[in-house]
Amino acid sequence: MEAYAIIRKKRDGERLSPEEISWFIDRYVAGEVADYQAAAWLMAAYLRGLDAGETLALTEALARSGEQVDLSGIRGVKVDKHSTGGVGDKTTLVLAPLLAAAGAKVAKMSGRGLGHTGGTIDKLEAIPGFRTAMEREEFVAQVNRTGVAVAAQTEKIVPADRKLYALRDVTATVDSIPLIAASVMAKKLACGADVIVLDVKTGSGAFMQDAAAAQELARLMVAIGKRAGRRVVALVTDMDQPLGYAVGNAIEVAEAIATLKGRGPLDLTELCLELGSRALCLGGLAVSLKTARARLEELLLGGQALGKFREWVAAQGGDPRVVDEPELLPQAPQKIPVLSPRAGYVVQINALAVGEAARALGAGRRRKEEGVDPAVGVLLVAKTGSRVEAGEPLAYILAREKGVAEAQELLAGAFTVAVNPPKTRPLVCAVVE
Ligand code: URA
Repeated sequence: MEAYAIIRKKRDGERLSPEEISWFIDRYVAGEVADYQAAAWLMAAYLRGLDAGETLALTEALARSGEQVDLSGIRGVKVDKHSTGGVGDKTTLVLAPLLAAAGAKVAKMSGRGLGHTGGTIDKLEAIPGFRTAMEREEFVAQVNRTGVAVAAQTEKIVPADRKLYALRDVTATVDSIPLIAASVMAKKLACGADVIVLDVKTGSGAFMQDAAAAQELARLMVAIGKRAGRRVVALVTDMDQPLGYAVGNAIEVAEAIATLKGRGPLDLTELCLELGSRALCLGGLAVSLKTARARLEELLLGGQALGKFREWVAAQGGDPRVVDEPELLPQAPQKIPVLSPRAGYVVQINALAVGEAARALGAGRRRKEEGVDPAVGVLLVAKTGSRVEAGEPLAYILAREKGVAEAQELLAGAFTVAVNPPKTRPLVCAVVE
């Protein structure tokens, strides 16, 4: 086999065999296929597409390229959750302790922010002392002891995806359904959970802006997971406006804590209950969605989920006092309002613009090697459907010096205020099982 022939075949729209895909990926990781050849192959795959068999072969080749995390030492149903990326998406911070309080074993590896979207690891690291680098033994022991651990995905897991993703990022080949499905599912399969709950985002703040494309992605990922013998469900959910009100690292932790106290935003709370109910049913920890939801509501209102969050933070070295004293989280020195130019209803909030504004302030990265500022971000005051008066704040910019003018410009264009209230969009657009 040779790389040239495999690239040409895909360029001409032919179907690649699993052996060809596996050979190409293995040689790429070994450094025998060059970056420029992999980039050409990615563009051919982007333009010509990959069918279900090719996508499965790619997923398996990626998953095999590194360490397979052995979770067999964990007693109980091991649950993992993944979001395809959004703005203000702090769901894991709520759902992980909530599911652990319900008896699931939440063993999750997460990533950092990507593009305009935030990452769970950056958010957790906003908690003073919180450690996200964990050895496997420590990870397994913590899940057995507390029911929950979330660690940063190491370089050893799916190295082929790490290399390919970096190329996709600079060759305009990220938003391809089969390439995203293979990238996400390879990491999920390598991380070894029994139950995988996927949150596929759609709307202005998602990689898949179109709902039909998001559903296709969801179907493909569920099919891959099932073929690999995992129990998988995907929810296609709205990301046309940020989730909750907080977009940034420390402020998202604070909002997650409020949600665990039963005082969170409605959309975030509802999404956690929906995803959580599906996870409990799939894991055999509840007999119906109704009983699962009732149990989760009980754990939120009764404080057990919050107690589990406290235990989890302490287990990973974080300061658990942040639960009762959120002011211990990093605070931005400046709070600048973004004012509504007119009276009316907020009919649209461009989530991409809000995510970009938070990134400009330093909550996310422009280059991979950059750090993030945990304190900064954007705090919405109004959401879609809110009534506002002229001169009232729509949002606050929480900033140091960096990126204030850019964030102001982005946010000035992010809100659409009109005379009539908007039609409401459903939070859960589809369920794929
Ligand atoms: N998230 C991933 O992990 N991979 C993609 O390709 C896109 C989003």
